[in-house]
Amino acid sequence: MGTYDKRTLVTGGAGFLGSHLCERLVKRGEDVLCVDNLFTGTKRNLGALLGDPGFELMRHDVTFPLYVEVDRIYNLACPASPIHYQRDPVQTTKTSVHGAINMLGLAKRVRARILQASTSEVYGDPEVHPQVETYWGRVNPVGPRSCYDEGKRCAETLFFDYQRQHALEVKVVRIFNTYGPRMHPDDGRVVSNFVVQALRGEDLTIYGDGSQTRSFCYVDDLIDGFLLMMDSEKGFHGPVNLGNPGEFTMLELADKVLRITGSKSRVVHKPLPPDDPRQRQPDITLAKTKLGWQPKVALDDGLKETVAYFRGVL
Ligand SMILES: NC(=O)c1ccc[n+]([C@@H]2O[C@H](COP(=O)([O-])OP(=O)(O)OC[C@H]3O[C@@H](n4cnc5c(N)ncnc54)[C@H](O)[C@@H]3O)[C@@H](O)[C@H]2O)c1
Repeated sequence: MGTYDKRTLVTGGAGFLGSHLCERLVKRGEDVLCVDNLFTGTKRNLGALLGDPGFELMRHDVTFPLYVEVDRIYNLACPASPIHYQRDPVQTTKTSVHGAINMLGLAKRVRARILQASTSEVYGDPEVHPQVETYWGRVNPVGPRSCYDEGKRCAETLFFDYQRQHALEVKVVRIFNTYGPRMHPDDGRVVSNFVVQALRGEDLTIYGDGSQTRSFCYVDDLIDGFLLMMDSEKGFHGPVNLGNPGEFTMLELADKVLRITGSKSRVVHKPLPPDDPRQRQPDITLAKTKLGWQPKVALDDGLKETVAYFRGVL
């Protein structure tokens, strides 16, 4: 147990990334208030934290205002996988936009530092490769993914307007594909899909020919980046990319998962969904120079941890 010298609010703290973040913050002695409506998050993700005096869970929807005394806010509340965010697209945009307004309003009242969990989806289907923070993106405003992509873009706009208009100390990170224990088993994301299919002995589904690439960041590396960004020098607002630049095709990923699980599953191909980006890879020069951050966990090692977690869950 630490000194509890900082009161820290984590919205979406019962989710995949949020639960890892809460754990790390409590471990380093911060007094953590986790706010979550448990839409995709669960109390199970919080495990031992629920009995820790440095931790508190509040069931609350960030689209409604919140009045609490805190020094720091990590704003993660938002369903992150297409299956979840497309279930109620209007609520997804509300969560991003009204959630950002409410949390920024709170930060302004209590003069808290506030970090926004933005996304590589703000780049859309990019013409620039790898993506640098100065690239403005190519996003479809009217497609089925727009509720998430445009909601997150608008949230970034709000963060920077609060910074300019109210001199708030904002920190914006753009997260690229992250994986690890506590991903949702049925969220349709490629790592969890492959691992769950392999462990169940089902066919591994690849959309398209499998030559499209993605980069995969292990959750522990990402949380390091969150903490460094929150602690970064005053006046550095980002946006800053956090992700693993190592690029793998879907076929390569499927091979790794089959090898690590020892599964006899086969690979099958299905048509590509609309607006699916062909390539996605972060340029992390800014994170390296400003935060001294870069990912350390190799894909094989992270996959082993993830497979071990899913073996336990299934
Ligand atoms: N995991 C990734 O690869 C990734 C990539 C880019 C961005 N992000 C961003 O990181 C954040 C966390 O993502 P995750 O992967 O942990 O997803 P997640 O779905 O596991 O976590 C989101 C959490 O927010 C909660 N939530 C949703 N709507 C809410 C609302 N209106 N009020 C309060 N709580 C609400 C959910 O219950 C859940 O606990 C999200 O903002 C997401 O957009 C994640």
